[in-house]
Amino acid sequence: IVLEYSMEGFNSNIGRLNHVAIAVPDIIIASEMWQKALGANVSKPQTLPEHGVKVVFIESPNTKVELLEPLNENSPISKFLIKNPNGGMHHICYEVSDLKSASKKLKEVGASILGDGNPKIGAHGNPVIFLQPSDFSGTLIELEEIK
Ligand code: CO
Repeated sequence: IVLEYSMEGFNSNIGRLNHVAIAVPDIIIASEMWQKALGANVSKPQTLPEHGVKVVFIESPNTKVELLEPLNENSPISKFLIKNPNGGMHHICYEVSDLKSASKKLKEVGASILGDGNPKIGAHGNPVIFLQPSDFSGTLIELEEIK
């Protein structure tokens, strides 16, 4: 069965899955495993000091995976790795066309946005917000505005 639907037909704020982010204690060891065991196409590590992480991108036909290693103990993923020393799924990121309307809808249903609630510039240079994991079954969701 092929389900055909359009964004217009549904009252949906989320578009395609942009990436799944996985926190890892060692990005070189993790990259090699994805390359060797899965034949994955893994990018060279990039350091993003303003986000406190080293990152590699693993492209697949419908989305990408980002492996994140913290740069130091102040990194936003350091605490996560203390709780999950072997690494683990950190967040998923959906594309949205309009963060303002997405934020409005979240507020209407009582869902919380992390931090001061205002968008920040994310790792891809686009505005992003992160949603309170306890509102979404313990999953951290990032919404990224794609023009
Ligand atoms: Co992300």
